[in-house]
Amino acid sequence: MIDAEQTLVTRRLILEPLRVCHARELFADLRDPRIYAFMPDDPPLSVEALALRYVIWERRQSPDGRERWLNWVVRLAHGGEPVGLLQATVPTRGAALVAYLLFPRRWGKGYAREGVRRVLELLFVEYGVERVAASIDTRNDRSIALVRSLGFQCAGCTRVADPIKGAPSDEYRFELTASQACPTSAAPPPRT
Ligand SMILES: CC(C)(COP(=O)(O)OP(=O)(O)OC[C@H]1O[C@@H](n2cnc3c(N)ncnc32)[C@H](O)[C@@H]1OP(=O)(O)O)[C@@H](O)C(=O)NCCC(=O)NCCS
Repeated sequence: MIDAEQTLVTRRLILEPLRVCHARELFADLRDPRIYAFMPDDPPLSVEALALRYVIWERRQSPDGRERWLNWVVRLAHGGEPVGLLQATVPTRGAALVAYLLFPRRWGKGYAREGVRRVLELLFVEYGVERVAASIDTRNDRSIALVRSLGFQCAGCTRVADPIKGAPSDEYRFELTASQACPTSAAPPPRT
């Protein structure tokens, strides 16, 4: 069994498994409406509401046990400032899903790319998944640029109903397979 509580490290970042106690620290930053412009989600209403969500996420798996739910707080390695969140949903079979957000004051520095790349490495190498997918609103240029820079390819576009914001939106599904992923960072080493 892979340790879902392991902290991941990159050159500039520490990815710390998300816990209920992080709700208070993250709440103010998660209130920024710019984060939710293209996401089917809204800012948390209170620290308590956020903590309740994290109680569920802290179980690290779905109630039926069929999915691993991995969530991390992304921190700057130098100083420990929280800069965002990363998420991976790993089913027993089929594609894993990744999701991510950075606090807007830290956009444009490559932190999302660096953090997601580390999560992809975990998924492909340790979890052995064959495919990772991301669902992205067609207007979310930053997120599209991010996944393209990591080698994801567009696998389709669908119209989805948005239960929170009302109006439907169009979403791309981007996918990356283990063999497409950068061989030095994300794919298992070639057999000799
Ligand atoms: C999607 C999101 C995480 C992308 O954030 P981002 O800061 O644009 O992405 P990165 O951290 O990879 O940074 C890339 C940028 O950093 C720049 N950069 C600077 N230093 C860099 C480095 N060392 N390495 C890589 N890129 C670097 C790149 O040139 C690029 O800049 P540009 O946008 O001006 O071209 C962010 O916009 C976000 O949180 N949005 C709200 C939530 C959301 O929509 N999530 C996705 C739902 S599908």
